[in-house]
Amino acid sequence: MEEEALFALSNGLYVLGAQDKDRYVGSLVDAVSQVAIGPNMIILSCMNSSYTKQTIESTGVFSLSVLSKTVDPIVIANFGFQSSRDVNKWDNVVKEIKDDLPYLQTAMAKIRARVVNKQVFPNNTLFIAEVEDAFELKKGEEPLTYHDYRNGFKEKVIMAFQASKSEEQTAKAETVAAKNETHEQKWVCTVCGYVYDGDVPFEDLPADWVCPLCGVGKELFELRDA
Ligand SMILES: Cc1cc2nc3c(=O)[nH]c(=O)nc-3n(C[C@H](O)[C@H](O)[C@H](O)COP(=O)(O)O)c2cc1C
Repeated sequence: MEEEALFALSNGLYVLGAQDKDRYVGSLVDAVSQVAIGPNMIILSCMNSSYTKQTIESTGVFSLSVLSKTVDPIVIANFGFQSSRDVNKWDNVVKEIKDDLPYLQTAMAKIRARVVNKQVFPNNTLFIAEVEDAFELKKGEEPLTYHDYRNGFKEKVIMAFQASKSEEQTAKAETVAAKNETHEQKWVCTVCGYVYDGDVPFEDLPADWVCPLCGVGKELFELRDA
């Protein structure tokens, strides 16, 4: 099967939001589709490893902020390259709260949906949800697509992420170097959590090697305590 052919399906990019116990959590998603009208039904697919997915399972509601082509790349990195387990992502963006759910102020449209059913697959959970509210459409703006992301935008996102993390990484590298003498460490994908355990040392893998689980490059791996 030519899995690349599936990239021809048109998806947008969205910031998914949900309310955790005492804070808001969120994630970057592309797997959203409207599948019915009257009532308006959408399907959202979340990776089973996603913290936001767990939260939606508890609360039954979520928000979607539709990203436009003018979105700051760091927004995508903030929500897509790190987990709410480690970071309060909504503290890093300008947000608006409506009916206890968070939205990006700069979104080109905002949608609130309530889960009515779900289907669990080995790697993903599909939520079937009814749209309860859809508002603040910014006419004249164009949605950013997954196709845009794969054709140039991803590099901008990676560069923005690396710039924002460079100071943090330098400090971490020093700590890692110190710790290396005493602790075993593994290279871990910061996007999906995949732990590299191959025979070839991670440093010697080719520059175009990608995470077998989510497809991001080596630059999005970091050393973590095993
Ligand atoms: C371009 C892009 C598209 C993504 N699409 C999805 C998606 O449709 N569903 C999903 O669960 N994760 C998707 N992800 C991955 C999540 O955004 C990522 O795993 C995030 O760290 C999860 O955060 P959380 O643990 O706070 O929920 C995507 C990431 C990127 C960069």
